[in-house]
Amino acid sequence: MRLLTNSDIDLSLAADALSRGGLVAFPTETVYGLGADAFNKQALARVFAAKRRPSFDPLIIHIAECAAADRVVAWERLSSRATEQARHLMAELWPGPLTLILPKQPCLPDLATSALRTVALRLPAHPIARRLIAESTGVVAAPSANPFGRLSPTRAEHVVRGLGEAVDFIIDGGPCALGVESTVLDLSGEKPIILRPGGMERERIEALIGPVALFDRMAVNITAPGQLLNHYAPRAALKLYPRGALAQARIEPGAVLLFFDAASRDSCQAAQGALSAVLSESGDLLEAAAALFDTLYRLDQEGIEYIHAERVPDIGLGVAINDRLYKASKKD
Ligand code: TXA
Ligand code: MG
Repeated sequence: MRLLTNSDIDLSLAADALSRGGLVAFPTETVYGLGADAFNKQALARVFAAKRRPSFDPLIIHIAECAAADRVVAWERLSSRATEQARHLMAELWPGPLTLILPKQPCLPDLATSALRTVALRLPAHPIARRLIAESTGVVAAPSANPFGRLSPTRAEHVVRGLGEAVDFIIDGGPCALGVESTVLDLSGEKPIILRPGGMERERIEALIGPVALFDRMAVNITAPGQLLNHYAPRAALKLYPRGALAQARIEPGAVLLFFDAASRDSCQAAQGALSAVLSESGDLLEAAAALFDTLYRLDQEGIEYIHAERVPDIGLGVAINDRLYKASKKD
């Protein structure tokens, strides 16, 4: 494994490696991705091996321009209404943290999509990601660059620690601005449905195409492993509380209280003698999202065994943050 910068020379080296079937981890505006040429079966197989990811968990295909969608999407299998919605969202919200599930063309290897008839497609906003994709094959499969089930990486160091020698290159583009993964919106069915809340707020999608359902995690029919309940897990045992309820936590020695904002911490008596962390002092959801995985990684590194976390406001990006906190928590 070699760590690269965002210099022209390093980016061409990485693009060249991708084109030849190599594995390159790169920054996006959400989290770091582990990239492979989406048409190269051997490279795809290496992605699953590097992440120890079960092969029933399909990858997101990343493109650098909207036109590249035509290489993998079978538009003729999509209703005219859904096609209109997809085109509208692509025009208004791409590049950005929105992944669309659409019918796939047979030429895309089954390994990329776990033999589903649909493909997850995204056009990331990060300049390094777009350049890398454009200068390599234009169609790059990239799951988050972490071992399966663990925290998603928001810094190059997280990738080095999690995947290390299993990848060829890691491009260090600094911390990810958004810090939670893209919103996954399924347009292939009867009605649009959000399978995974993420960096693109449901409100912004609905403003463009009308009401969209949010996948109900209590439903039994799991179609995206991002919906699995124990996902994005830190090593510590994380217990989740309603906002403002951390005062009720029974705090083990060495446990950390994880607050949404300073106001919440300051009003909690229990925080006085205990270790604590705050996602955003001022209570800004964007800042909290960017700090989420980074804070959990840091607490893991410090060897913290117990985390008591409060939920954040359940609006906008807060929906994605609460989803990740819930999935990181121990369910009894
Ligand atoms: O922000 C992101 O989306 C990041 C960056 C690197 O772009 N990528 C990412 O990929 O989070 P990954 O593989 O960790 O998560 C992809 C999610 C999984 O929950 C997967 O099950 C779902 O998308 N997915 C992929 N293809 C699908 C399909 N055809 N139908 C339903 N869900 C699908
Ligand atoms: Mg992931």
